[in-house]
Amino acid sequence: MWESDGGLLARVDKNKMPRHVAIIMDGNGRWASVRGLLRSAGHTAGVKTLKNILKTAVNLKLEALTVYAFSTENWKRPPGEVDFLMHLFSDYLEREKLEMHENNVRIKFLGRTEDFSPALQKLIQESVDLMKNNTGVKFNVAADYGGQDEIIRTTQKLARRVQSGELSPEEISAQIFENELDTAGQPPVDLMIRTSGELRVSNFLLWQAAYAEFWFTETTWPEFTPEEFIDALVDFGKRNRRFGASAV
Ligand code: FPP
Repeated sequence: MWESDGGLLARVDKNKMPRHVAIIMDGNGRWASVRGLLRSAGHTAGVKTLKNILKTAVNLKLEALTVYAFSTENWKRPPGEVDFLMHLFSDYLEREKLEMHENNVRIKFLGRTEDFSPALQKLIQESVDLMKNNTGVKFNVAADYGGQDEIIRTTQKLARRVQSGELSPEEISAQIFENELDTAGQPPVDLMIRTSGELRVSNFLLWQAAYAEFWFTETTWPEFTPEEFIDALVDFGKRNRRFGASAV
């Protein structure tokens, strides 16, 4: 089992925890280039950060953690970098899946994934199957994921149901729509974190983050620590969420 740093976790008020945290893990390339390293070294360092943050999420008993690993737009990166990232995902799953399973993590992949190599798709399926009955953190890896793409795929699924006569257009509600999203059955995003100083949503969880609180940091992803993750959660606990209602 992953050990916990009780002192660190004690900073979080359990009654004010977000249920679902999403992270845009940005700045791997910049972290590497200021050190005279290849971008790939930044991605490798980013995997270590991911492991530490997942461990913290497990120890905090967070309900859901979603990370943006590869966007539908990331195919435009140089082929060498895309290839490196694909190998990194495979190595990560190969190396970490049993440990995640022992820690009751339930992994899921959001996005298309069918353009990944057959070997990576098989490993993804094996990892999902291995952990499918786990009841701990819902760990969503967004891979070949785009929020607009997810909304289009969802619309297509509903259109097919309407076409077959199973559903009428008027029956389509927010709930029916959510039930067809990649995140079906999971709570909406409460807190979205983005590292490395960029202030954009970059096509991540557009539907699910409708009422998310945002937390931005200049820290690059490889330098992001469990301490800073906890800072974000503590700050979230101080926010006054109104979901569109008036302030007073
Ligand atoms: C953004 O940094 C990062 C990515 C596009 C890849 C994220 C991948 C990891 C953190 C690797 C681990 C993931 C898994 C699931 C094993 P960037 O390259 O855009 O950095 P830059 O903006 O500084 O160029």
